[in-house]
Amino acid sequence: MMEFAFPEGFLWGTATAAHQVEGGNVYNDVWLMEHVPRTDFAEPSGDACDHYHRYREDIALLAGLGFNMYRFSLEWSRIEPEPGEFSLAALDHYRRVLECCHEHGLTAMVTFHHFSSPRWLMIAGGWEGHDTPGRFAHFCARATAHLGDLIDYACTLNEPNIGPLIFKAQPGAPVPQQQAWWALAAQQLGIPPERFAPFQFATSKRSRETMLAAHHQAVEAIKSEAAAIPTGLTLALQDVQAEPGGEEHAERLRYELNDVYLAEVGNDDFLGLQVYTRKRVGPDGVLRPSEDAELTQMGYEFWPEALAATLRIAATAGIPVIVTENGIATADDERRVAYVESALRGVAACLQDGLDVRGYTYWSAFDNFEWFHGYGPTFGLIAVDRRTQARTVKPSARWLGAIARGNRVSL
Ligand code: BGC
Repeated sequence: MMEFAFPEGFLWGTATAAHQVEGGNVYNDVWLMEHVPRTDFAEPSGDACDHYHRYREDIALLAGLGFNMYRFSLEWSRIEPEPGEFSLAALDHYRRVLECCHEHGLTAMVTFHHFSSPRWLMIAGGWEGHDTPGRFAHFCARATAHLGDLIDYACTLNEPNIGPLIFKAQPGAPVPQQQAWWALAAQQLGIPPERFAPFQFATSKRSRETMLAAHHQAVEAIKSEAAAIPTGLTLALQDVQAEPGGEEHAERLRYELNDVYLAEVGNDDFLGLQVYTRKRVGPDGVLRPSEDAELTQMGYEFWPEALAATLRIAATAGIPVIVTENGIATADDERRVAYVESALRGVAACLQDGLDVRGYTYWSAFDNFEWFHGYGPTFGLIAVDRRTQARTVKPSARWLGAIARGNRVSL
């Protein structure tokens, strides 16, 4: 057993995303996909954790546990419900959320886009649309003008590599574009199915270029309103491990999921790293976890070592790295502690090797709406009873909060 002290000022965060916790985000594309007939979404997001109204008690709870940072996202469709029409009421809401973070001594990290987009953006071409980078940058500028004095860190886009990741690296995942509900969703928007390009399911080269352009323009927009805010991109970097014969495929995957994106972030202030498991690759592609592997509720292999592996990859970008998401979906809270403990051992090793790691953020603060999977997988440090909205702090939250407060861990 050894005591490891983290550098002074290390960020200890928990994270959420607007659509997964706020509830009632009826103007965005995900709500549409949840509700379309024969959807593959397990259930609708509904009231989610009602965080839109309960953020005060939620933020107080997180601060009280010992965390010093809160990462949350702005819901673009609330702030700009129609193109060019900005809601001051929605912007003021997020001002109050930010003020609340500061009242509780929490560093505020804001993600400007976390998967959900306004429906009107889908009609205008979505994440393959020619004007999308400019529209996103415009939104970022307006939001920063209103909120920038209270934002400590800005993440532009959450995981632009999510689409390729789902389709190229998750064996057996259904392809939404081939399902009947996809065409019905497009029909409701009045666009042909091949033009429907929501963020999470966009895999084309064009969508990648659109997202990267959106990131670069967003950085400029945010900086033009508040030059001092450290701004970066978050990436779901992959720990790709080649089994015999899988080397070539693994190389290709590393290139498509990691390298293409890492090449674009060198001028940013930091890189947000998000990781959950590893990917083993054989001659025919990504392998399912072996029979004896421990699986999480997401069907992922329990593999906390992926954090250290991807921290070393992230470090090649040459900028500070903040772990903006790492966590596990499990009903067994002791496995959550085991997972995070092992992940933190990896962070400590990377720091000892001189890597510039600035923080660790657990995904997620609450059991929340896990996209396609609905409310089944429980990633949270805090459980939420969705009938009563009562919050219950799990032992893992107290354990990690104590580490955060002490800024040290026994490993
Ligand atoms: C996303 C989160 C999601 C988490 C767990 C990340 O890819 O940013 O929104 O809930 O993974 O699947």
